Amino acid sequence: MDEFVAKKVYVETYGCQMNISDGELMEGILVEKGYEVSNSAEEADVILVNTCAIREHAEERVLGRVGQLYGIKKERPEVIIGVTGCMAQRLGDNLLQRAPYVDLVMGPDGYRSLPEQLERIHIGAKSMPSRSSKKRGPQLAVLDLDVGENYEGLVQRRTSPVSAWVPIQRGCDHKCTFCIVPYVRGPEKNRKSSDILNEVREIAEAGRTEVTLLGQTVNSYESDGVCFHELLRSVARIDGIRRVRFTSPHPNDVTPELLRVMAEEPAICEQLHLPLQSGNDKVLRRMLRRYTVDTFLEKVTLARDLIPDLSLSTDIIVAFPGESEDQFEDTLDLLRQVRFDDAYTYKYSLRDGTPATRFPDSDFLSNEEAQIRLTKLIEVHRSIQNDINKGEVGRIEEVLVEKKGRETSQVLGRTRRNKVVAFNASSEIIGTYHQVLLTGTTGATFMGELAN
Ligand code: 5AD
Repeated sequence: MDEFVAKKVYVETYGCQMNISDGELMEGILVEKGYEVSNSAEEADVILVNTCAIREHAEERVLGRVGQLYGIKKERPEVIIGVTGCMAQRLGDNLLQRAPYVDLVMGPDGYRSLPEQLERIHIGAKSMPSRSSKKRGPQLAVLDLDVGENYEGLVQRRTSPVSAWVPIQRGCDHKCTFCIVPYVRGPEKNRKSSDILNEVREIAEAGRTEVTLLGQTVNSYESDGVCFHELLRSVARIDGIRRVRFTSPHPNDVTPELLRVMAEEPAICEQLHLPLQSGNDKVLRRMLRRYTVDTFLEKVTLARDLIPDLSLSTDIIVAFPGESEDQFEDTLDLLRQVRFDDAYTYKYSLRDGTPATRFPDSDFLSNEEAQIRLTKLIEVHRSIQNDINKGEVGRIEEVLVEKKGRETSQVLGRTRRNKVVAFNASSEIIGTYHQVLLTGTTGATFMGELAN
């Protein structure tokens, strides 16, 4: 049999934590088959661009990048370029037409067959007449969504020596009207709890002390009679695991039981991401978020009552179709009321095939109006964040050191409340825990000094 010779793979990931984790999965699958992971596209035999479809902007960036990679293929025609992930799933064959130099498009449920598909392309190219100017294999599209695929039994290549992503759920059963995820990742499917716990035990045995459980609506997890808060408690009690985080939860599935587990288990970090999206009930209804401002606020109050010193973050979309000036102001008011430690802010982006596209044309705001709202929102959020973080200067916090900082003498780490701290120390302390005095803030992140 013809041995597959391409050996170096370069994976470039865009988008959410789940995508980062999928990038590690693809690397793991290929390493298992004898590939090496390369840190540069220029040196690789296979280049995989692992994409996001959540907003148009994310897709444009990727298309630009894929165009750049064409330059590499012009010089080395044998290089295989693949586009994987949510945008690949969304655009499918269209992408192969738009970018004819792309060899493979593969959606989020196709990764198990990645080595096989690469081999088909490679063998196809080798069987072309040797003087052919277009010496390349077939262009392949692997776009089936598979409700049975949760990648059990495959090994993810963990890139951080300190912390590990642990996907526990894939896909999404919520149908928020703005969101493309259910269409590109399919319905919710949960891994068996015993498999997840075994994986976390292995992570701990390998010396990693922090895990982040991942799912599109991670706290809707339920499998073989185990619900999310039960799984979370078991993960938190695994020997060697010192920090547990999870993302991204849906506010509706933030239950009192979950908050109690968070309060009771010392390993679970005092951090909760609660995507609000809008501070107005009418907009929330049109988004099909299935909660109201009041029920959201009740969760915030309960969470803060049960978990002292909880750090809260959120996602907000401005200029959703039909959002009036007053309704936007309601969102600003809610930010001022809740005072989130962090907020990820977005302009509504129309995604073909989602229910929100069916609102009447007159409901859609111009990009200029959307930009004005986004700028205002960011300004309000930054000033709150600045205030909160200034109030934390002077505290001593436990920091897990994750990596080198921008300046060579510095390292970067995170507090339990997920705040980033830079301080002077040798990179030898990466992976260890330290008490750090917070000495200053840029607004979003902190400067510190070792206190032990
Ligand atoms: N436009 C803008 N933002 C979006 N998000 C999801 N879909 C869209 C869209 N069509 C945001 C939401 C979500 C986050 C991951 O991305 O705020 O919580």
